[in-house]
Amino acid sequence: MIQFEGVAKTYRSGKREVPALNGIDLTVETGEIYGVIGFSGAGKSSLIRTVNLLERPTKGTVKIHGKDISALSAKEIRTTRKDIGMIFQHFNLLTSKTVYTNIAMPLILTKTPKNEIQQRVTELLDFVGLGDQADKYPEQLSGGQKQRIGIARALATNPSILLCDEATSALDPQTTQSILDLLRKVNRKYKITILLITHEMAVIREVCDKVAVLEAGRIIEQGTVFDVFSNPQHATTRRFVRSVMNDELPEALLKQIRNTNRSQPIYRIQFTGDSVAHPLISRISRRYDLELNVLFGNITELQGIPYGNLIVEFNGNPAEIQRALIEIRNNYVLAEEMSSYAS
Ligand SMILES: Nc1ncnc2c1ncn2[C@@H]1O[C@H](COP(=O)(O)OP(=O)(O)O)[C@@H](O)[C@H]1O
Ligand SMILES: [Mg+2]
Repeated sequence: MIQFEGVAKTYRSGKREVPALNGIDLTVETGEIYGVIGFSGAGKSSLIRTVNLLERPTKGTVKIHGKDISALSAKEIRTTRKDIGMIFQHFNLLTSKTVYTNIAMPLILTKTPKNEIQQRVTELLDFVGLGDQADKYPEQLSGGQKQRIGIARALATNPSILLCDEATSALDPQTTQSILDLLRKVNRKYKITILLITHEMAVIREVCDKVAVLEAGRIIEQGTVFDVFSNPQHATTRRFVRSVMNDELPEALLKQIRNTNRSQPIYRIQFTGDSVAHPLISRISRRYDLELNVLFGNITELQGIPYGNLIVEFNGNPAEIQRALIEIRNNYVLAEEMSSYAS
């Protein structure tokens, strides 16, 4: 478990103070994959680097498995560092060393016996799918393979926590997918808690259980990936969600709606879980004196839960519309007026 309590970080460059983090409260439970998303400069790297003491907070505490890491002795710091692996955007590999030696490095540095190193590295090479690349040098391999070396190296000391700083940001979408699959395997097979930071919402959607949105050093929203994606509260979160959910009206349709000067209200109707299966829309239009005009719709999946999204124009008198809305909401379906679209 990782707990941030009131964590603040201010850098000093010359006489200037640069605030990077401002009162971060966040708990990453054991076994979770927790994602922190934010634009460049939001403070993501500063945050993740406080976990393995690459940065010390100016204020507040970071606890690992319940222990305040700023109060650790030098010896405890060494043990804690072995318990936390980290991977980076640009891999940070030793170019003059082979794949094997790169992965072995944390074990060499902690003076692990040679036969133990060999056993562990062989196992890890297999695990990350580089079994036949041990004697190659990093420059002979692709970006995805380099990140696999990074992951194997991070796991060498059998950590319980893995930190990922933009680990897929230098990779193409297909390679990103394969690295995310590998991270999920790391989480499941070795029961490793993963804290990852990214500026890509697709990464969060793909692997994370929970997400926090970081903006200007503060967490503006956090929750399960399902809750945050299906009902984002903050404008910045909405922007991130929109970048992957494709649940907005197409621009051409939007223009058409504005141009025809409609007076009828438009609602966004969100179906989740079981309610996806209900033929709600057809039932409502049969039962009420209304004409429902579906302008846009899609159904997708979030964390294995079906999630549907319809944008519907309600044509009818206001009292009838209100009655229909009550029935829709009684079915645990979210209906939200999109008044701004009609104007
Ligand atoms: N070593 C440093 N010295 C001074 N300012 C820094 C340092 N590291 C980061 N910053 C500043 O702190 C803020 C947050 O940076 P960072 O944590 O790297 O954000 P992110 O990873 O989200 O891009 C930025 O304004 C950045 O310029
Ligand atoms: Mg960063």
